Amino acid sequence: MRPADLIRRKQGGQAITMLTAWDALSAAVVAGAGVDAVLVGDSLAMVVLGHATTLPVTLEEMLHHCRAVGRGLAAAAANPPLLICDLPFLSYQCGADAAVAAAGRVLKETPAVAVKLEGAEPETLAVIDRMVRSGIPVMGHLGLTPQSVHQLGYRRQAGDPVSQERLRRRALALQEAGCFALVIEHVPAPLASELSAALLIPVIGIGAGDGCDGQVRVTADLLGLTSRQPPFSPPLMEGRALAVEVLGRWVREQGPAPAPVPPTRPASPAAPHC
Ligand code: KIV
Repeated sequence: MRPADLIRRKQGGQAITMLTAWDALSAAVVAGAGVDAVLVGDSLAMVVLGHATTLPVTLEEMLHHCRAVGRGLAAAAANPPLLICDLPFLSYQCGADAAVAAAGRVLKETPAVAVKLEGAEPETLAVIDRMVRSGIPVMGHLGLTPQSVHQLGYRRQAGDPVSQERLRRRALALQEAGCFALVIEHVPAPLASELSAALLIPVIGIGAGDGCDGQVRVTADLLGLTSRQPPFSPPLMEGRALAVEVLGRWVREQGPAPAPVPPTRPASPAAPHC
């Protein structure tokens, strides 16, 4: 699967599915499910590394997890899904040269074939333009953009006509800058449907209703592994409770700990420590 295949799927009216993975194990699971695209999302900062936000995860950590996901996909599927890696906070906001270098490392040092980044500020559009002209496929991300949590919170975005118009302009600008697809998170469903119809590139939604060209979810949320799921991404199973229950049963089955063995008296005095 290549970035252009996602555009062909949209043109053919076929729904696109994307799931996150963070290691070889989760990659094998989502590949086995037959997903079209796998995202090594910076949500792994919270889901896997235990941070309170996505901000602390580093480029080195993203590369490390992306390589593990790549190995898992290669082992699990003859025709692996499209692998995309998030560019973490401050890897693309400090100038176009540094941003292209960061995205280039993703393509050179991991099996990912595309990067995702958040926002559509003029500087971000310039960076996307540079990346695309350097041969780096870019996926955009608008609406709730977790790297801006200290400005936007985790609230639903684009609730009023002014911010809806801004989102329309930004989505179009990302398409014009050369993004091959756009993730749109936690915005009103009618707006997301409208954008899906208006844009030529696929719009992949999360918390954005059923009218998008595709859907993306954080796999750990769907499996119910995280301690709290976002309200727009309910779990499909209670994975965490199930795991605790079966592992707890195994622990209890081991019975009481064996009685401690009494220490034996040494045959000769212990050698002095020198
Ligand atoms: O980091 C992530 O997992 C994401 C998805 C929510 C789209 O960006």
